[in-house]
Amino acid sequence: MNSSDAFSHLLNERRSVRAYLPTPVAHDLLCEVLALARRAPSGANLQPGTFMAVQGATRDQLCAALVQSWRAGAQEKEDYDYFPDPMPLTLRRRQVAAAQALYGALGVTRDDRAGRDAQFERNFHFFDAPVALVVTLPHDFGSGGYMDLGMTLYGLMLAAQAKGLATCAIGAMASYPSLIRKHLGLAATSHIVCGMALGYADPAAAVNQTQTTRCALDEYFQVIG
Ligand SMILES: Cc1cc2nc3c(=O)[nH]c(=O)nc-3n(C[C@H](O)[C@H](O)[C@H](O)COP(=O)(O)O)c2cc1C
Repeated sequence: MNSSDAFSHLLNERRSVRAYLPTPVAHDLLCEVLALARRAPSGANLQPGTFMAVQGATRDQLCAALVQSWRAGAQEKEDYDYFPDPMPLTLRRRQVAAAQALYGALGVTRDDRAGRDAQFERNFHFFDAPVALVVTLPHDFGSGGYMDLGMTLYGLMLAAQAKGLATCAIGAMASYPSLIRKHLGLAATSHIVCGMALGYADPAAAVNQTQTTRCALDEYFQVIG
C-alpha cells in the first residue's frame, strides 16, 4: 500500500471504540500521539486547548461522582452549546441512525431504557479505557478555538490509530463541567470541552462492531457558478 492509500485506509477504518483491553498504553507512546496531534493547524498558531490524563484515585473519584450525578438526573449549565436546539429533522434522523447503530450492535432494543442507560453510563467511566483524557479550552476562546481544538482532536484520533490504538471522544463529559473542574482542581476559566478514551480496542466486544454511515456527497457539497 502506498502512503496515500495507507492514509485513506486510516481515515476509512477509524471508528469510535467503546470497549478496551486492559493493556496499558506506554507513557512515551501517549506523549508521541499528543505531539503528533498538536501538528494540527490553528488560527495564528495559537494551539488552543489542553489535555489532561486522569488516573488513579482521582479518576476513580471523578467517575464515581459523574455516575452519581447522572443517575440523580443532576443538571449543570454546560460551558458551550453543542447541538442545535431544536434539532432540525434531517439532523435528528442522523442522530437516531447513529444511536440505532450503537444499540443495534449491542442488541439493545428501542424500548429497552435500562439497556440504553447502561451503555450511556459507560461514558462516565471513559469506557474503562487505560487512558482517560479531559480536554479543556480557556473560557475566552470563541468558536474559532473550538474549531482549532477539533482539528487537534481528530489528529489525535488518527495518530493514535496509526500506532495501533483506538479512541472515542466523550462529549457527555461536557454535561458536568463544574463537577469535573472540582475533581481536577481546575479554575472556572478552564472550559470542559469533552473527554477522550484511548487505548487498545477490545476486538471481541459487541459494542465495537458499531458501524456508522455518512450522508451522500451531494448533501454537503455543491459546485456553484
Ligand atoms: C466531539 C465528539 C463527542 C462525542 N461524544 C460521544 C459520547 O459522549 N459518547 C459516545 O458514545 N460517542 C461520542 N462520540 C462519538 C460519535 O457518536 C461518533 O463519532 C459518530 O457516531 C460517528 O461514528 P464513528 O466515530 O464510529 O465514525 C463523540 C464524537 C465526537 C467527535
